[in-house]
Amino acid sequence: MNMNSPQFRIFPSGEATAAAVADYLARALKNQPRLRLGLATGNTFVPIYAALVELYQVGDFSFSEVMSFNLDEYIGLPKDHPASFSAYMERHLFAHVDLPAGKGLLPGVDGDIEAASRDYEAEIASGGIDIQVLGIGRNGHIGFNEPGSPFDSRTRKVDLTPLTREANKGDFPPGETVPPSAVTMGISTILDARQIILVAIGASKAQAIQAAFQSVPNPDCPASALQSHANVLIFCDETATSTMRAS
Ligand code: F6R
Repeated sequence: MNMNSPQFRIFPSGEATAAAVADYLARALKNQPRLRLGLATGNTFVPIYAALVELYQVGDFSFSEVMSFNLDEYIGLPKDHPASFSAYMERHLFAHVDLPAGKGLLPGVDGDIEAASRDYEAEIASGGIDIQVLGIGRNGHIGFNEPGSPFDSRTRKVDLTPLTREANKGDFPPGETVPPSAVTMGISTILDARQIILVAIGASKAQAIQAAFQSVPNPDCPASALQSHANVLIFCDETATSTMRAS
């Protein structure tokens, strides 16, 4: 394991964790106005984006020169479907800040997905990602890289596991099912980011955090790939580290 990484920042509550992540991102945006930011969706990031928008409203930083790249998007949902990650980003962040139109990118999920994935990789590679934020699935997934995803994977179409579809079904109107597939940045795409911030809140993430950082890296736990990255910060609450062994 890289000796500088990962570093844990543990907070007494989910709210405190979210506030700390928002504060960290606000400082980064202030220090580096042309930040290239990798973004995530999911429940974990709802309070983080809310806190970041609050800081933006009273603060001294802007998104006007920022470029952002989301980790993933479902295949088969119209962009304005409330459960699409595109709609999520509009609702929780993009509509509230001065990120220029067309600068908040998500993976392409229409038409020729292989070509769109290559284009997405090229767009990311043109300047890299300075900070990639990540949540973690209960099964250890990062982005939609489910268990078994190769550590050298790049942006591509993936099938979602039953556990992930179950975990995300609350985002969908009653009677609708979670799409079976999505496009996600690959593990290798994520590892190319200059810095990675993984956020885990709640006891339901404790086993995944333990498997990710206290086991030998292996594709059964995709997040364990982060052990090889030189600059990973883990922001989490106490419950998310409750099963970790003292080292
Ligand atoms: C979302 C994503 C996922 C989530 C993960 C945790 O863009 O890529 O990996 O970060 O499923 O989701 P929540 O935060 O809803 O528990």
